[in-house]
Amino acid sequence: MALDATVTSALNNQINKELYSAYLYLTFADYYEERGLKGYANWYMIQVQEETDHAMILRRYLLDNDFTPTMEAIDKPDKVFQNDLEPLEAGYEHEQYVTSLINDCYAAAYAIHDFRTMQLLDWFVKEQGEEETNAKDLISDYKLFGSTPQGLFDLDNKYQARVYTAQTTLPM
Ligand code: FEO
Repeated sequence: MALDATVTSALNNQINKELYSAYLYLTFADYYEERGLKGYANWYMIQVQEETDHAMILRRYLLDNDFTPTMEAIDKPDKVFQNDLEPLEAGYEHEQYVTSLINDCYAAAYAIHDFRTMQLLDWFVKEQGEEETNAKDLISDYKLFGSTPQGLFDLDNKYQARVYTAQTTLPM
């Protein structure tokens, strides 16, 4: 059964937003690299990989359902950070925005009883819950421990240990 035009449009847009997310987190990683905080930079470089995965999952889904995605222009990330907490707060804000976009995709599928797309999006709904939790934890960790050099050093080491794992078993 062919996908509905509103649903394909929402998913195509979501590919763009996920790639923007990767682009945005690349700037976060760059900020922390410049600060010498390689653990935080590592955390966000893994985010870059995960966001790219999200885009590829959606691309594959559209292709498998006979829709060829259109790659639109990606916005330029424009945030300038004054301190180490700001990227973490911007990350949480961004993930809440992405959650709202996933909800919009879900609403489009739900409205026309597109159960196949809803099943795909179930994974993204769960993933967004995890993304928001991770983003909040980064903020609370920083506020609790990041104000001393030793605390920041320990946090940076913690984030250095994060290892990328492929986001899903869905075919890409
Ligand atoms: Fe693709 Fe961070 O959500």
